[in-house]
Amino acid sequence: MITINLSAKSIHDQPVSSRVWFLEEGFTFGKELNALAKHLFPSLQQFFNERGFTGKANSGITLPIWHDEKLLHLIFVGLGKKHGKTLTMENYRRAVGRAVRLAESHKLSSFAFELLNPKDFGVDLNHLVQQTVTTAHMAGYHFDDFKRDRQSTKELAITICIDKAQQKAAEQAKKAGEIIAAAVNTTRHQIDTPPSRLTPTHLAEHAERVAKENKLKITVFGEPEIIKMGMGGLAAVSAGSHQDAKFIIMEYNGGKKTDKRIALVGKGITFDSGGLSIKPAASMETMKEDMAGAASVINAIGALAALKAPVNVVAIAPTSENLPSGTATKPGDIIKFYNGKTAEVRNTDAEGRLILADALSYAVKHFEPGLIVDVATLTGACDYAVGPFYSGLFTMDDKLADTALAAAQKSGDRVWRLPLHEDYEFAIASDVADLCNIGKSNYKAGATTAAMFLKHFVDDCPWIHLDIASNAFDLPSTSYVEHGASGASVRLLIELALSYK
Ligand code: BES
Ligand code: MN
Ligand code: ZN
Repeated sequence: MITINLSAKSIHDQPVSSRVWFLEEGFTFGKELNALAKHLFPSLQQFFNERGFTGKANSGITLPIWHDEKLLHLIFVGLGKKHGKTLTMENYRRAVGRAVRLAESHKLSSFAFELLNPKDFGVDLNHLVQQTVTTAHMAGYHFDDFKRDRQSTKELAITICIDKAQQKAAEQAKKAGEIIAAAVNTTRHQIDTPPSRLTPTHLAEHAERVAKENKLKITVFGEPEIIKMGMGGLAAVSAGSHQDAKFIIMEYNGGKKTDKRIALVGKGITFDSGGLSIKPAASMETMKEDMAGAASVINAIGALAALKAPVNVVAIAPTSENLPSGTATKPGDIIKFYNGKTAEVRNTDAEGRLILADALSYAVKHFEPGLIVDVATLTGACDYAVGPFYSGLFTMDDKLADTALAAAQKSGDRVWRLPLHEDYEFAIASDVADLCNIGKSNYKAGATTAAMFLKHFVDDCPWIHLDIASNAFDLPSTSYVEHGASGASVRLLIELALSYK
C-alpha cells in the first residue's frame, strides 16, 4: 500500500526513513550534492565512483548511514541522458518505479524527494505531479491476493517536497494522478484474477460497482437478450460455455448535450481456450488476460467520471468465455451480427473480432459516436509485429493517428502504428458469407486483417483500434510495471478522452 503526500517543508526536515535523489546521467557535484556530502556522508563522491553510479537510466543505489541517532537510507536513482534539450518522461517514470522497488527491497517504510523542475522534462507542473503519483502507485501494485507473504499489505509512505506556492495546484494534480492510478491498478487486478474467479458475471458486477460509485448509467444484457437482439457474434462465442455472456453498456455525460460521444469498446473474453479450434497448452497459459480491453474501458470511464472530464463517453464491453463443448460453435458455422452482416467462422480462436463486431455495431446504431476507440487483446500477430513494449494502433485517418500518438506519448502508454488499407480487404473474403473470420494465409499480416474485419462494423465513424495482445501481460520489467497485467491502454484512453474536442 502506497500513500503519497505533498509537503512544503524541505527534504531535510521530513521524518522519513529514506531520502531519494534523482540524478541525470553524467551529473556533477553541485550545491545540493556538496551539501549532502558535507552534512551526511563526506565520501559520497568516492561511493559513487566505487559503485560505478553515473546516473544512467534504469540504475539506482542505496546508501545506509547513521544520522540523528537513527538509520537513514539515501537512495540515488539515474534519470538517463537528455534527448535534445530535455530529459525523457519515460526515464523519469522508470526512475520513480526504481525508487519504489529499492524502498520495497530494503523494507523501508517511507521516503521523501524533491519534485524536479518540470521544465527539465518540457512539461508543466500539473503533468509532472500527475505522472509521478500515477507511476508510484503503479509501481506499488502487486498481485499477491493468494500469497501468504503479501507485499501489498506493507505500508510505504512517499512525500513529495514542493514549493509552497505550487502546493495548491499540485494537490489537484495529485488527486488526478491517484484516480488514474486506481483505474490502471483495478484493471490490472481484474486481469490478474484467475479466470474461474473472474467470469463475465463478475466483470459485469464490477462494472455495476464502478457505475454506482461514479453515478453512471449502466445497462447489462444477459445471454437470452443478447441472442434475442441478434448479437450472433457474442452468442456464438459464448455457446460452448456454461457461463452467461454479458453485454455491458456504461454512460457518462460530462459534456454538453450537443457534444458527440466517444465510444470506448473493449474485448472481454474472460478465458480464451480457442474453442473447438483449441489452442496449444503453452498459448493458453495466460489467456485469463483476454478480458483486458473490457476491464480497461470499464475502469477508464469510471476514472473520467471521477475526474469530472468535460466529455460524453459510453463504454461498451461484450464479455464471455471461449470454450469447447458439445454446444460450442464449430468451424464452418455461419453467424449473423447485430448490423445484419454475416461471417463464416473458420477458426473459433479468432473470437475477439466476433464479439467486437456486435459491440461496434451497437455503438454505431445507438450512440452515433464522434469517435470510437476499441481496445482488444486481439492477435498474437500484433505481438510478433511490435514485441512487448507497444500496442498496435490502427486507423485509416492520419489525423486521428497523430492524436492517438500524442496522447500515448503524454500518458505513458506506448503505441506503434501498423498498416490498415483497403488492399487487405480481400484477405477476409468468404465464399459462403459476407466475411470470413480469419485472413487468407498469403496476406500474413494477422493484426491488420483482424482490424479490417472490425472496420466492417464502424460504418463511417472516426475510429481507432488498439491491439494490446502485445503488451497487456507479462512485460519485461520497466521497474514500474513487472510480470502480470500491465494495465496497457487505460492511461491512454483517459488521456484521449480528456484531450477530445
Ligand atoms: N486472444 C487471442 C490473441 C492473443 C494472443 C492475446 C496472445 C494475447 C496474447 C485471440 O483471440 C486469438 O486467439 N487470436 C488468434 C487469431 C487467429 C486464429 C487468426 C491468434 O492470434 O492466433
Ligand atoms: Mn482466440
Ligand atoms: Zn482471444
